[in-house]
Amino acid sequence: MSRMSRTDRPYDLVLFGATGFVGTLTARYLAEHAPDGLRWALAGRDERRLEELRASLPGGAGAGILRADAAEPAGLRALAEHARVVATTVGPYVLHGGELVAACADTGTDYLDLTGEPEFVDLTYVRHDARARETGARLVHACGFDSVPHDLGVYFTVRQLPEGVPLTVDGYVSADAAFSGGTLASALNQLARGRRMLAAARDRSRHEPRLPGRRVTAPAGAPRFAAEVGAWALPLPTVDPQIVRRSARALERYGPDFRYRHYAAVRRLPVALGGVAAVGAVAAVAQLPPARRRLSALLQPGEGPSAQRRAKSWFTVRFVGEGGGRRVFTEVAGGDPGYDETAKMFAEAALCLAFDDLPETAGQVTTAQAMGDALTGRLRAAGITFRVAARR
Ligand SMILES: NC(=O)c1ccc[n+]([C@@H]2O[C@H](COP(=O)([O-])OP(=O)(O)OC[C@H]3O[C@@H](n4cnc5c(N)ncnc54)[C@H](OP(=O)(O)O)[C@@H]3O)[C@@H](O)[C@H]2O)c1
Repeated sequence: MSRMSRTDRPYDLVLFGATGFVGTLTARYLAEHAPDGLRWALAGRDERRLEELRASLPGGAGAGILRADAAEPAGLRALAEHARVVATTVGPYVLHGGELVAACADTGTDYLDLTGEPEFVDLTYVRHDARARETGARLVHACGFDSVPHDLGVYFTVRQLPEGVPLTVDGYVSADAAFSGGTLASALNQLARGRRMLAAARDRSRHEPRLPGRRVTAPAGAPRFAAEVGAWALPLPTVDPQIVRRSARALERYGPDFRYRHYAAVRRLPVALGGVAAVGAVAAVAQLPPARRRLSALLQPGEGPSAQRRAKSWFTVRFVGEGGGRRVFTEVAGGDPGYDETAKMFAEAALCLAFDDLPETAGQVTTAQAMGDALTGRLRAAGITFRVAARR
C-alpha cells in the first residue's frame, strides 16, 4: 500500500486519548499550530467530553470527533482506516495499547505514541513489525520526553563527529518537573512487571536479525562523578537507551562500533543518594498490589501539574560524544519536559509523519530513523534547543 493511496482517507491525523491530561495539551497545541487545512479529529471513549474539548479549542470547530474504546478492536480498526496518522496517549500502553497498534499495522496507518514502557515496545516489535513492513505503516513509539530529546540529541551529537570510526556518546539528563496521574500509573505498572519486561526483551532478541559487521551497545554504566559535566552521574534505566540503540542499529552514520550510556546528572551527592533511595522505595512498593494501589491513588488519571508549576519546569540533556580523536559537547534543552514539551514533541512528530518529506521507512522505527532531520528542524523552530556547547 503506497502512502499516496492513503491521501483519500478522511483525516490526516487522529488524536486518540484527546481528553486525557497530555491529550488535551496536545489537542491545544495542534489547534494553535497546525497548518491551514489540516484534516484532523479528536478521538476517545466519551463523545460528550470530546465535544466539550473541541468547543474549548481555538478554531477547534474544524476538528472531527471519533468515538472509540481501547478494548473494542472493531472501533479501533475503523479509527485507523479513517486516518493517515494516528497519535495515541491511551496508556498504560501495555494494558490498553496493543489493539490499536495491530489495527494501524494492518491498515497501513502511521502510528505514534508516548510510551516509556520497554515491555510494550518489545511486544509490539514481535507482534506487528512484520505486518507493518508489508503495509508500509510506520510504528513510532516514545514520541515525548521519552525519548525524543535523547534519541534526536544523540543523532545530533553523532553528526558532529567523524564518519566511519567507533563512537561513544554519554547522555546526562537534568530536570525540574512534576508528573501526572497517567505517568504515575504507567510507571508503577511497568515496575510491577519486571519479569514480563525481561521476557519480552528476550523474545524480541530472538526475533530481531543480527547486525552484520557493526556493533551497537547501550550498557547500564556505573554511578560515578562525571567531571566532564560537573555532576554525579546515576545510570537511568528508562526506555531511552533502548531507543537510542535501535537508532544506532538502523543508521550507518553511528559508525562500526557505537556505545551509548544514559545517566541522570545530579550536582550534589546527598540529592543523588536521596534520588536512588526514592526510586528503590517506589520500585519496592510497586511489587505489592495494595501498596501500589495506594500510591497510584495519590494522583488520579487526568490529573497533572498546574500551568504555574509547568511554567517553572525545565529540562537539559547534555551529551559528551567521542570518536576519531574528537570530543564534542552538545545540549538539548527546553521547558516542562513531561507535558508542555511532550505535547509539542508529540504534535510536531505527528505533523512530521503526515506532511514532511522523510526517508522511506516502515515497521517499528525510531524518531531518529524515521524523522531525524525534519523533526529536529521542527522542534528547533518550536523553541527546543539543540546546540553544540562549549567545553566545560
Ligand atoms: N513519554 C513521555 O515523556 C510521557 C509524558 C507524558 C505522558 N506519557 C504517557 O502518556 C500516557 C497518558 O498520560 P496522561 O497523563 O495524559 O494520562 P491520563 O490523563 O490518565 O490520560 C489517559 C487517556 O487514556 C484514555 N483511556 C483510558 N482507558 C481508555 C479506554 N479503554 N479507551 C479509550 N481511552 C481510554 C483516557 O480517556 P478519558 O479521558 O475518557 O478518561 C485518557 O484520555 C501515559 O501512559 C503516560 O505514561 C508519557
